[in-house]
Amino acid sequence: MTSGSTAAIRIQDLCFSWSEDRSVLKACSLEVPIGEFWMLLGTNGSGKSTLLRLLAGLLTPDSGDIEISSPIGFVFQNPDHQLVMPTVGADVAFGLVQEKLSILEVRQRVEESLAAVNLLALQRRPIYALSGGQKQRVAIAGAVARHCEILLLDEPTALLDPDSQLELVAQVKKLVKDRGMTALWVTHRLDELDYCDGAFLLEKGRVVDQGDPKRLRQRLMQTEEPTE
Ligand SMILES: Nc1ncnc2c1ncn2[C@@H]1O[C@H](COP(=O)(O)OP(=O)(O)OP(=O)(O)O)[C@@H](O)[C@H]1O
Ligand SMILES: [Mg+2]
Repeated sequence: MTSGSTAAIRIQDLCFSWSEDRSVLKACSLEVPIGEFWMLLGTNGSGKSTLLRLLAGLLTPDSGDIEISSPIGFVFQNPDHQLVMPTVGADVAFGLVQEKLSILEVRQRVEESLAAVNLLALQRRPIYALSGGQKQRVAIAGAVARHCEILLLDEPTALLDPDSQLELVAQVKKLVKDRGMTALWVTHRLDELDYCDGAFLLEKGRVVDQGDPKRLRQRLMQTEEPTE
């Protein structure tokens, strides 16, 4: 492991089982450098979502270490499981309730974060009148408004059409570069690898390959069919 100051996410020898005969992560280790956009690949059931939930503190590991900067923003595959308020602006503001900000500060944070994902013009739009990609951008604006240092995204493009898919991944890349956020993005879609700084391949509960996304893409295209 390298020195602590360079990684925003670091896990070491992480083990997690759902039950005695269902070990998912087996001494899994990885590091995401500060200010970088990394992706996490692996076949269905390899433990990607479990790993993201452990990173977000939604699950507790059996053993091993997790070091992660905060605050953490989490973006789910299905935005309808995440957006709770009737309009775009209200949803982003709702995420700030615990921060005890003034009304003016809330308004500034909402506008700033919606501008960051190109949705300022839709601030008053009802959530039901958004496309899937726009809904995902509202979820991401929520994390930007909370000044999250980390974005964890679990197959955020799985329900999107190809245009919205590439728009979303480009948007997250830009946010990472412009705002110094660190992102870990789970995907099955190999064309998304072009946008990231690096990728991890999860297999049998541990990282079996990592690094240059172009090389990983080649490896996956040669060794297996895309899983979805
Ligand atoms: N709540 C749960 N209870 C018991 N077992 C679970 C639970 N959630 C996941 N599992 C099991 O843990 C393993 C890893 O699941 P996980 O959802 O992390 O995989 P994944 O890599 O995200 O897969 P996918 O690509 O299909 O999303 C699988 O064997 C799955 O059946
Ligand atoms: Mg999953």
